[in-house]
Amino acid sequence: MILPITLKDSFGRTIRDLRISVTDRCNFRCFYCMPTEAMEWKPKAEILNYEEILRLSELFVSLGVNKLRVTGGEPMLRRDLESLIERLASIEGLADLAMTTNAHFLKTRARALKAAGLQRITVSLDSLEPERFALLTGRNELSTVLAGIDAAIEADLHPVKINCVSMRGINDDQFLKFAAFARERGAHVRFIEFMPLDNGKVWKREMVVTGEEVRAQIHAVYPLERVPSDNPSETARRWRFVDGAAGEIGFINPVSQPFCGACSRIRLTADGQLRTCLFSHVEHDIKQLLRRDAPIEELLDFILMTVEKKEERHHINDLEFVQPLRTMSCIGG
Ligand code: 5AD
Ligand code: SF4
Repeated sequence: MILPITLKDSFGRTIRDLRISVTDRCNFRCFYCMPTEAMEWKPKAEILNYEEILRLSELFVSLGVNKLRVTGGEPMLRRDLESLIERLASIEGLADLAMTTNAHFLKTRARALKAAGLQRITVSLDSLEPERFALLTGRNELSTVLAGIDAAIEADLHPVKINCVSMRGINDDQFLKFAAFARERGAHVRFIEFMPLDNGKVWKREMVVTGEEVRAQIHAVYPLERVPSDNPSETARRWRFVDGAAGEIGFINPVSQPFCGACSRIRLTADGQLRTCLFSHVEHDIKQLLRRDAPIEELLDFILMTVEKKEERHHINDLEFVQPLRTMSCIGG
């Protein structure tokens, strides 16, 4: 059922993209995302079950959302994720179904995910050197992740995208290596500017390596040309190799070139809160409506009212910027 209402916020932006965090748990401990000491996970009863996730996804799609992304934490920690993917994939009106993962469990499950209807995949990977990888994630498992990426390529979860958060003093010696990796695997490597959304508040402006700086570095060795884009709400500026090699390089520049004006996104946290911006200080408790069996009209009203409140932009570059309390592992990227 497609309703004659679209989700427009008060700045005229249409919401087309719902990101669903299916768990706040993760088996990695990326230093900027999760604390190294024992994490307090949300009790299971607070996490949305698959029925609830499906119900909300169907509602959003009926309101014009056509892209769903499953995220975490690490989504593959959720039991039988394939069954959720299968049910999401069968929602009528959906154009795109993707997932963000750390790829740890991908080697044996890429094919089943594809068969369930997952279209494409994004892998978070910030280092291609085993020791640095271990330092950054707390797990000495680079080879497992690389095998997962290869399995995704083989299963045709195309295009396989790699998200690399560029951080000065942490992985800024590896950008060329990532470019070579994109060429070898035909993957799309996207460099994301480090945002102040981190655990432990290690973020410092000096740590941000701008997309432009990374691009210039790569361009000097592997000349790049712009890929024309017809999607104004795309976060990444896309480039390809002039010599025709496979793969792409993208730049997501939320700090140096904010793209809030074209934002089409809304987020659902694992514990059933709607977030209208990564940097929101408020959340909208839709779980409470689901759990008291609110009629559909009430759910629709709640969603419309929440979208109304979507913030105009983030304030990373303003003096009065205040970091939100929850990190990416809870919000879902
Ligand atoms: N800044 C930039 N990117 C981040 N991610 C997680 N935390 C941050 C941050 N503070 C990335 C992850 C993942 C994606 C969803 O967001 O690496 O790939
Ligand atoms: Fe896990 Fe992703 Fe956070 Fe790393 S960035 S700890 S892989 S949720």
